[in-house]
Amino acid sequence: MAEVTMVVNGKSVTRSVSGNTLMTEFLREELRLTGTHVGCDTSQCGACVIHVNGEAVKSCTMFAAEANGAEVSTIEDQANADGSLNAIQQAFQDHHGLQCGFCTPGMVMSATALLKENPKPTEAEVRDYLEGNICRCTGYHNIVKAIMAASGQDVTAVAAE
Ligand code: FES
Ligand code: FES
Repeated sequence: MAEVTMVVNGKSVTRSVSGNTLMTEFLREELRLTGTHVGCDTSQCGACVIHVNGEAVKSCTMFAAEANGAEVSTIEDQANADGSLNAIQQAFQDHHGLQCGFCTPGMVMSATALLKENPKPTEAEVRDYLEGNICRCTGYHNIVKAIMAASGQDVTAVAAE
């Protein structure tokens, strides 16, 4: 066991973890932050995306010990300070970017990282960036629309799937 300390959603947390404790397990089981989902065991689905030091990371691919000293942000920290949906979350709602919602936390975290590095992505860039996020319900069309709308772009021309 090793002691790890990190800032998660603005709060410092310290826990003892095994060397093989995954970040997904740490967030979901230790901190009860169950908005980070686990949809596969092959690092493919992206339901587990969080931000570590501002970068989007599949949390199932990292050990909690590797996040020692890091700033971590999860879907639980994305709403506005008054509890309302942030612009990206609101756009997912407005453009029907979710159905069952299982992929949505990872999609929102990936979209947030994308818009931070590329505030006005093209449709092709959005689709390319989401390559690591699988959605089994929506066909991606409305997710792409939502992300482009959140970036302030006209979405009427977004191609149908
Ligand atoms: S649970 Fe991490 S990529 Fe699927
Ligand atoms: S909304 Fe169901 S998996 Fe994406």
